[in-house]
Amino acid sequence: MSTSLGFRTLGAAVLISAFGLSGAAVAGPPADWSEVPEKTISLFYPGQSSYNWLLSKEHKKGNRKVPKGAACLDCHEDDEQDMGDAIIEGDHPLEPNPAEGINGFIEVAVQAAQDGENLYLRFKWETQSDGPVRVAVMLDDGKVPNFAAQGCWLTCHDGMNSNPEAVSEDKVKAHPLFGDGGMKKKDIRKYLAASRTDEESSWDKTKSADEIAKIKASGGFLDLMYWRFKDGKPQTKDGYVLEYRNGDAKSSIGDAGKSTGELKDGVYTVVIQRKLDTGHPEDDKILKVGSVYSVGFAIHDGKVKDRFHYTSFPFALGIGVDADISAVSVK
Ligand code: HEC
Repeated sequence: MSTSLGFRTLGAAVLISAFGLSGAAVAGPPADWSEVPEKTISLFYPGQSSYNWLLSKEHKKGNRKVPKGAACLDCHEDDEQDMGDAIIEGDHPLEPNPAEGINGFIEVAVQAAQDGENLYLRFKWETQSDGPVRVAVMLDDGKVPNFAAQGCWLTCHDGMNSNPEAVSEDKVKAHPLFGDGGMKKKDIRKYLAASRTDEESSWDKTKSADEIAKIKASGGFLDLMYWRFKDGKPQTKDGYVLEYRNGDAKSSIGDAGKSTGELKDGVYTVVIQRKLDTGHPEDDKILKVGSVYSVGFAIHDGKVKDRFHYTSFPFALGIGVDADISAVSVK
């Protein structure tokens, strides 16, 4: 960082933009993360707890309240570790083939900061692997019903790749929207109920492409960003979830080099960044200082893929304001 963060004034910012330089030249992550408040959350192994399962009788009591929009944390405060352990240990209806030798949960210290240009999120956890890790952030601005209460589970359905009743490639290829005549997909990925026509949000009961485009244009999608760190180097993927887990037309978290991942003494420390205003409201959520958003996190810790990840319940993220997790202002 070439400019001292302490001296960034409004005048300097205006001057710099007048010269046509990117504001990123002066913006930057906190010089000292130890001054930024830390929130420790437990990400747990969810097995096959798809939204369909949450609505089934097996999800005792939850099955009646979840469709009414009840928050997971209303009933599951401090449950994460027990649930993750119960599901991973085997002999659990939510996990037919438990991965061996991995824990049911990971405790992650989360910190957040913003400098008027970028959002910085820092994750720190004891890793179980020296392999690559992947951190995913799902983010909403209140446009997706129930995301603030129920988080990532809203996107997780039977029929998806590595979930119950995973749909065969042949069936996907024959589907008018997803198949060879449309999006040319081979499997089913995350999606939102708003993109489907039936009460069960079945994978194949899709709304028309026009209707889905209208939902997207009104912001009814989730921003989904990934950072994968291999040998400390980040690779990013910028997408959104609506009728499918789509990639963005143009990645706006593409300057991956600015995110960092470090493995030291068994602890992974990852700092990811993205612009508050990416300039692409069509497939990104535009973040404003002073506003609160909802986020859910997922971490693939080591050589695992698909559903073998750790997931969080949703949290409120305040940009420069108080919330469950507050992105404190640094300048
Ligand atoms: C009205 C209360 C209620 C709500 C709301 C609720 N649950 Fe549950 N959930 C339960 C009960 C009761 C059980 C069964 C007892 C247990 O294992 O904790 C359960 C079990 C589970 C289990 C299995 C845990 C295990 O150890 O077998 C998972 C996973 C789960 N819930 C996830 C969720 C998620 C995700 C949400 C939010 C989308 C949610 N629940 C919302 C009441 C609720």
